[in-house]
Amino acid sequence: MKLLYTSKHTDNQSIIYLVKKGVNLSDFPLTAKEKDFVKKQIHAKKKLIQLNLLQRWIFIQVVDDSIKGDHLLEWLRIKAYKLQKAINSEGLKSVTIIDKTDNKQWVLSLVEGLALSNYQFLKYFKKKKEKKNSFDTIRIISKAVKKEDIGELQNIIEGVYCARDLINEPLSTLTAVQLSKEIQELGSKSGFKVEVFNKRKIESLKMGGLLAVNRGSIDPPTFSILEWKPKNAVNKKPLVLVGKGIVYDTGGLSLKPTKESMDYMKSDMSGAAAVVGALSAVAKSALPVHVIGLIPATDNRPDGNAYVPGDIVIMGNGLSVEVLNTDAEGRMILAEALNYAKNYNPGLVMDLATLTGSAAIAVGVYGIVGMGNADEKVFSSLKESGEKVSERIVEFPFWKEYNKLLKSDVADLKNIGGRDAGAITAGKFLEYFTDYPFIHLDIAGPAFVKKEYNYHGIGGTGYGVRLLFDFIKNYPQI
Ligand code: BES
Ligand code: MN
Ligand code: ZN
Repeated sequence: MKLLYTSKHTDNQSIIYLVKKGVNLSDFPLTAKEKDFVKKQIHAKKKLIQLNLLQRWIFIQVVDDSIKGDHLLEWLRIKAYKLQKAINSEGLKSVTIIDKTDNKQWVLSLVEGLALSNYQFLKYFKKKKEKKNSFDTIRIISKAVKKEDIGELQNIIEGVYCARDLINEPLSTLTAVQLSKEIQELGSKSGFKVEVFNKRKIESLKMGGLLAVNRGSIDPPTFSILEWKPKNAVNKKPLVLVGKGIVYDTGGLSLKPTKESMDYMKSDMSGAAAVVGALSAVAKSALPVHVIGLIPATDNRPDGNAYVPGDIVIMGNGLSVEVLNTDAEGRMILAEALNYAKNYNPGLVMDLATLTGSAAIAVGVYGIVGMGNADEKVFSSLKESGEKVSERIVEFPFWKEYNKLLKSDVADLKNIGGRDAGAITAGKFLEYFTDYPFIHLDIAGPAFVKKEYNYHGIGGTGYGVRLLFDFIKNYPQI
């Protein structure tokens, strides 16, 4: 989707007017009769008025400003999703948004909703041209919006598209090695630095958790390091983002019962996709924050050499872990990245991961389960971003009492804590590998949807990209 900031529109282009209830229609290119019709519709509390003027369409989107704050922004994104459907069903290629509200956030939310809804993953269809949406360009005319705002939104949209593409790609084409290559390519396009550790390097670093999960795989693991370090960074200590990069999760020898639980496990690298998408948007927008991304990656499979329940794995930090379920693999690889993050003396480390079914059961697709030990101010800043972009975070407790659920009889830790508080014990496991302010975000619920979910689309949603971008843009001085 191309976003263009303009000041003029030509007569034959379709238009979306963004208006408030009491809008003055005098300068609208409509006949007296048409204006009368629009007035009546607004009076009847219609929010979307569509006029077929034969050579073009005019859509009038009335903002319901009885809805307050962030809820109204989300309302606009969802209205935009409906508009997008109408635009494509009429076969329109482009529309011009003419803003009559002078409200920057409203305009940007409308554009964001249109662009995000218009995403498609068509790569594997034979007749992709026939399936492709006609809609591909949005022109924006608004006094409240600057050209840079549109450029930044374009970068965010591309970040989300990129995350969705990565999530939707199946294992056969997105192994850990391929993921690291995609990251390298994106780095050179977007302007962030990338270094990739191969299996030998991972062995030399003694990343036992990542190597254990990889043992059942026919493909080697990778560990990608992404860095955006602008000269004008506001933070001395970097922000480190860790993304779970399980390119496929069969559960390993603790095999997932297929159909329900395994079918969409190509999406188990959605945390990695979010970090990669966000870093790309941050770099392209040249945000003044020093950010590092760490992506441990492998698939998790059963095989002759696979790690088994009962195995004791020595982790990179020297702790031993009794593996009681090979399906609790995410924490094994994330732990290695969190331990590695210590090298950077970070101000804050956040991880994003499709870590537990337990988080998905708790909040469904409607939110992210968050927890951690970072400063309350930092956490509220993150939650605020979540509300603003509508990738909302529910904070779970992170009390020390949960630690004892991870006690093992034969090792320092076990990799599962039992049925109770499954999302929390997973987070607690990770905390053992940190020595800095830490936030864990479990995105298992919203990362991937099996049926279309408004502007989030179907399949990979790219959840986390917009959250991270907004958080980094308003990065608290730590
Ligand atoms: N990748 C899964 C979690 C998941 C489940 C993500 C559903 C998205 C949708 C993770 O690796 C996993 O298998 N977790 C186990 C942990 C358990 C064995 C302690 C789970 O949640 O069942
Ligand atoms: Mn698993
Ligand atoms: Zn997993």
